[in-house]
Amino acid sequence: MLKILKKIILASNNPGKIREIQSLLSGHDMEILPQASFVQEEAEETGQTFLENALIKARHAARLSGLPAIADDSGLEVDALGGAPGVFSARYAGAGAGDRENNVKLLTKLTKVEDDLRTARFRCVMVYVRDAEDANPLIAEGTWEGKILREARGGHGFGYDPLFFVPDQGRSSAELPPEVKNRLSHRGQALRVLVSKMADASI
Ligand code: IMP
Repeated sequence: MLKILKKIILASNNPGKIREIQSLLSGHDMEILPQASFVQEEAEETGQTFLENALIKARHAARLSGLPAIADDSGLEVDALGGAPGVFSARYAGAGAGDRENNVKLLTKLTKVEDDLRTARFRCVMVYVRDAEDANPLIAEGTWEGKILREARGGHGFGYDPLFFVPDQGRSSAELPPEVKNRLSHRGQALRVLVSKMADASI
């Protein structure tokens, strides 16, 4: 029998994220479509919080596609820096800065910070909107605790992974195999919570 799958837009162009979310939602009668064919211009992330930015991205994708949408926003919070870079994680070293520049800036800022005080966490907020005006979006959050290393380690992942030490694994998140990172990470946690909220809401 032919199954009718519910189409949902994923407000991301990151192939890793798209694969991860598609695999977690398989078996849920849903088809997760990357936003690329509907959204030519990405939404401007003008929010002060991960939640605001996730909602901006989800509403934008839902508006342009006419379909329900999932979006996430995430970043690194370093305690010794009062929670920075936070929502500015992707552009910490300035607009257009890449991972390398952002990591150099982070290490420079923390040069004088002792090992015990280098605590940090990745945070992710993931949302589902039924349409662009949805007044009752589903919201899920995940956090992943760690410490900032003094030099980069490992070749997997992206962003701040080489500097993010995961104490109970004894390795940086860039040294973890991708499937292990997906199981432990802020994004994996948020996604699993969102999937269960979607099931509760009969989506
Ligand atoms: P976005 O949620 O894709 O916009 O990510 C924001 C930024 O946070 C990224 O560009 C990275 O710098 C950082 N970030 C978020 N999640 C991770 C992660 O899992 N590993 C390393 N860096 C991350």
